[in-house]
Amino acid sequence: MKDVVIQFLVKQTKLSAERLDQVLEVPKDPTLGAYAFPCFSLAKEQKKAPHVIAQELAQTKKLPPGILKLQAVGPYLNIFIDMLTTAHETLATILKQKEKYGQGKAAQKETILIECSSPNIAKPFGIGHLRSTIIGSSLARIASGQGAKVKTLNYLGDWGTQFGKLIVGYERWGDTKKLKADPITHLLDLYVKVSADPTLEDAARAAFAKLEQGDKKYLAFWKQFKELSLVEFTEIYAQLGVTFDVYSGESLYNTQKDAVLTELKTKKLLKKDQGAEIVDLELYGLGVALIQKSDGTTLYATRDIAAAQDRQKKYKFTQMWYEVGAEQKLHFRQLFKLLELLGNTWAQGLTHIDHGLYLGEDGKKFATRKGKTVFMKDIVEEAQELATHEVMKREKLSKKEVATRAQAIARAAIIYGDLKNNRTHDMVFDLDRFLAFEGDTGPYLLYAYARARSVLTKAQYKPGKSLKLTKLTASEKALITKLAQFPEACQQAYDQRTPHVIAGYAFQLAQAFNEFYHAEQIIGSTAQASRCTLVQAYTQTLKNALLLLGIEPLEAM
Ligand code: ARG
Repeated sequence: MKDVVIQFLVKQTKLSAERLDQVLEVPKDPTLGAYAFPCFSLAKEQKKAPHVIAQELAQTKKLPPGILKLQAVGPYLNIFIDMLTTAHETLATILKQKEKYGQGKAAQKETILIECSSPNIAKPFGIGHLRSTIIGSSLARIASGQGAKVKTLNYLGDWGTQFGKLIVGYERWGDTKKLKADPITHLLDLYVKVSADPTLEDAARAAFAKLEQGDKKYLAFWKQFKELSLVEFTEIYAQLGVTFDVYSGESLYNTQKDAVLTELKTKKLLKKDQGAEIVDLELYGLGVALIQKSDGTTLYATRDIAAAQDRQKKYKFTQMWYEVGAEQKLHFRQLFKLLELLGNTWAQGLTHIDHGLYLGEDGKKFATRKGKTVFMKDIVEEAQELATHEVMKREKLSKKEVATRAQAIARAAIIYGDLKNNRTHDMVFDLDRFLAFEGDTGPYLLYAYARARSVLTKAQYKPGKSLKLTKLTASEKALITKLAQFPEACQQAYDQRTPHVIAGYAFQLAQAFNEFYHAEQIIGSTAQASRCTLVQAYTQTLKNALLLLGIEPLEAM
């Protein structure tokens, strides 16, 4: 309906459709109409007071179908539209566009590379990595929905001084059996043991330097650590239903350090400082960036410079988003500045999409019930166990069906538990609450979807019946109004780069459906056909919203 209003105003005001789309407002109070046009935008050009313009516009005699009346209130022209026409249009659009409903064009000129997940080899997959995985994957879907060409890239932390420690530890206390059985736990033990002994510091540093120089034996250790860690990470991704377009890693860029150093030198950015190479960014309030340590080994930042340049060459992105915890803010500000100082104009398209921390139920830093270090694998498994228990409690089902449902519920619980929060906020990680079937949770939304699907099955609804709406009840109007807001929510989630807009929308939509479901009879009522169409439009929209979050709905629950 907005289109009709805009086309009407284009004719009356001679403003462009784009401009009108920007200025047109939705009054908070619905008794003031569906839209309000602020006449300030015309005052200068027409040399008239805005309230005079509003009054003149309100006199328009011929209104297009769907627009009921116009009313001038101060400098605003309030526009009332016919709910039946809008309702009709909304439902017809959803039924026609199906899985495409909600998509827009806000990003159609963009090629976006989204770096996310990026766990560290030989270390536990952390909570920050979980957040990054979930948020990054959802943003990828949201940006694609706005027409962008999107690739997700997992940048593994597979290089760095920690490998010196691991090699030293493995040479001393390594146990092949333990490594195969539970690689990350064993490697973490070795790492902790070496870190606790200051007399091993030099040996660790030397081992890393040797690794960087390509020592065959050390490279073989490293390769094994990496492969075994990846097996474990891949399991977590499978349980979350996440995949990546590209796997990359810091190790790809250790050999490019000389090129980076030369480039920085040519641009006169590099300075020696006690044997190390640095770039002074004080001028920009960004401190000092360390590029090469005094022992000649590379650093995280050095590898990031090389990686960004390589990705620009490979993918020609217009934007690159780094989904990484807020604690790395300074690192990314330095990185972006360095790339800009090196003369890369594309550096303007770089964004650090940061996220807050997970907190425990007590509001302090998060820890699992099972142990001190947080193992994501344990959390995902625990969610699965709790979900299985819940499914079996409710219904007698085949083993296979229990497993399918439990997996979907566990996924929805973890993903929605995260995404319902503004990503920049710290959030409490409370698995029991995430898994609840009532309240603002993933399982509740799955249920809200499955229940509506079962109504359609019972009613033997077949899509494609012509749509006739004669009058609408209050709860129908509220539900349709919510349905109509979905494309806007999608665009907002993209503009703000945060999936919680979609999560919040999905929950409100489910609530609007609930109210409708309790207020109206569907099956057996004289309005069965049109109400079923409404339910169909609702399930389609909720499904589209859930898929944007990375949640696959269940047809029955
Ligand atoms: N592996 C890093 C960590 O766990 C995150 C990598 C972030 N991405 C980057 N391009 N620096 O802290």
